[in-house]
Amino acid sequence: MSFDLFRAEIDDHHPRLERLYEQAKKDFWNDSTAIDWDQPLTLKPDERVAMAKILSLIYYGERAALEVSAQLVPLVDDEQAKFVLACQVIEEAKHVSAFRRLLKKLDVIHPVNPWVRRVLSDLVATKHASYKLVGMQLIVENIANQLFNIIREHVDDPLIRTVLEYVGRDEKKHTGLAVLYLPQILAKVGFVESHMLWAKQIYWTFCVSQGIWDHRREAEALGIDIGLGLKKGIAAQDHLVEQMGIRRGIFKSPTLEKLVLSMYERDSRRKGKWTPAQSRTSSSS
Ligand SMILES: [Fe+2]
Ligand SMILES: [Fe+2]
Repeated sequence: MSFDLFRAEIDDHHPRLERLYEQAKKDFWNDSTAIDWDQPLTLKPDERVAMAKILSLIYYGERAALEVSAQLVPLVDDEQAKFVLACQVIEEAKHVSAFRRLLKKLDVIHPVNPWVRRVLSDLVATKHASYKLVGMQLIVENIANQLFNIIREHVDDPLIRTVLEYVGRDEKKHTGLAVLYLPQILAKVGFVESHMLWAKQIYWTFCVSQGIWDHRREAEALGIDIGLGLKKGIAAQDHLVEQMGIRRGIFKSPTLEKLVLSMYERDSRRKGKWTPAQSRTSSSS
């Protein structure tokens, strides 16, 4: 059913999206007042710079997410999906604002990584709702969420943790939208578009993993195993796809995963940090 602005009634086909919309409204927070921006950072000067470089990756991702979620509102037909996306627009605006404040407190906003620039430009430029939803909601937001988790586990700074907790709670809803709404979008995607979507996923996954790879030294300085974050991201994406219950247009290749993770394995082995247990887990994932 295509969108008709002047229909008096709307279809009630998406009760789970209605619930996600209610949850989004309940979770609303004000980035100016919910976070104590005057609290001091506990990181050492060199750790601050390393953290600022990693969070600058996220900052540009948040700016792209603001654009993409706003673009998706007119690209989807169902009112319930529009409501959830409208909430996402304001959430992403808060994330941009919160990360900008945090980065300026830590150090500076660093220039965008060239690999991350490629994938984010692509997601903003494409006209396809399916590409935007798969690339942003399923791949980029999910990896960002895993990075938030891994930073929260290893970096004991109250301000950074609070920002990541507020933002992470919103990001889970954004990947939730992919799980609930992508099956309907993918079911309508034609043969050519679904194969183009596969090719795009290979490209986006490669770009994201290169962008993360470029920050492995900064992560190491903070005691973070960023390769593990990427690995968890791939596993979490598989879980989201299982929940979606549709594989049409979704590219899944153990070879691609091994390829993107092998760089980290080689790096860890070179430093004598890679253990056989890690190797077994990676080959079975
Ligand atoms: Fe966000
Ligand atoms: Fe998001």
